[in-house]
Amino acid sequence: MNPDFWLERWQRGETGWHRDEINRHLCEFWPQLGLPTGTRVLVPLCGKTTDLLWLASRGDRVLGVELSQLAVDAFFAENGLNPTVTQVSGFSRYRVDEIEVLCGDFFDLPAALLDDIGAVYDRAALIALPPDLRLRYAAHLDTLLPARVPHLLITLEYDQALRSGPPFSVHTQEIAQLFGQRYRLSVLAQLDVLDESPGWRQQGLTELVERVYRLDPDMVLA
Ligand SMILES: C[S@@+](CC[C@H](N)C(=O)[O-])C[C@H]1O[C@@H](n2cnc3c(N)ncnc32)[C@H](O)[C@@H]1O
Repeated sequence: MNPDFWLERWQRGETGWHRDEINRHLCEFWPQLGLPTGTRVLVPLCGKTTDLLWLASRGDRVLGVELSQLAVDAFFAENGLNPTVTQVSGFSRYRVDEIEVLCGDFFDLPAALLDDIGAVYDRAALIALPPDLRLRYAAHLDTLLPARVPHLLITLEYDQALRSGPPFSVHTQEIAQLFGQRYRLSVLAQLDVLDESPGWRQQGLTELVERVYRLDPDMVLA
């Protein structure tokens, strides 16, 4: 899956993953992370999610990363925000108050732009990627965040034989392989959301599990 796939999705307006409402799991579980006010939160592959606004409204400093300039422009325009745009390390940096979005390829992101990240919010980022890129994503996150920080991670699980991604099905076993050596994993919620995706039932799926993970820095393992 190359960047053109996503750029074309945005150009064609095929953004079925986007929700205007704030993610319910973010609202419920983010406060439980107990992060100090002003924490800088990394939101990889952020699209034009309004979750950025919710995080900023709590007093968090938000850093989104998104490939598509259309998406980034739409985020600021649709929310009536007028960002300052500068260039940094090959990325366009959009900034307004506590919200910053870097427009460019996440895999090109240098650690120098993420100096004081204190948490990660991942909804539809890891699961947007096929297996080889998921490995690269987790490895790149690791190089970007050597200090390790809490994550809230939302995944989907379903029978991949019945439907091709994205979004891809990513099982707990893979989450453990990708993150388990560096983070302590807890499942905060798991729910069958098939009724919310009737089209998927028509494709033959009988189960669609949304799972919410909390990843905490594990002080025991090196
Ligand atoms: C499934 S969408 C999810 C967007 C957002 N997280 C949400 O919940 O609405 C995945 C997004 O990742 C972006 N994307 C894909 N590959 C990327 C990459 N390598 N670097 C930055 N963004 C990327 C796409 O353009 C798309 O907006």
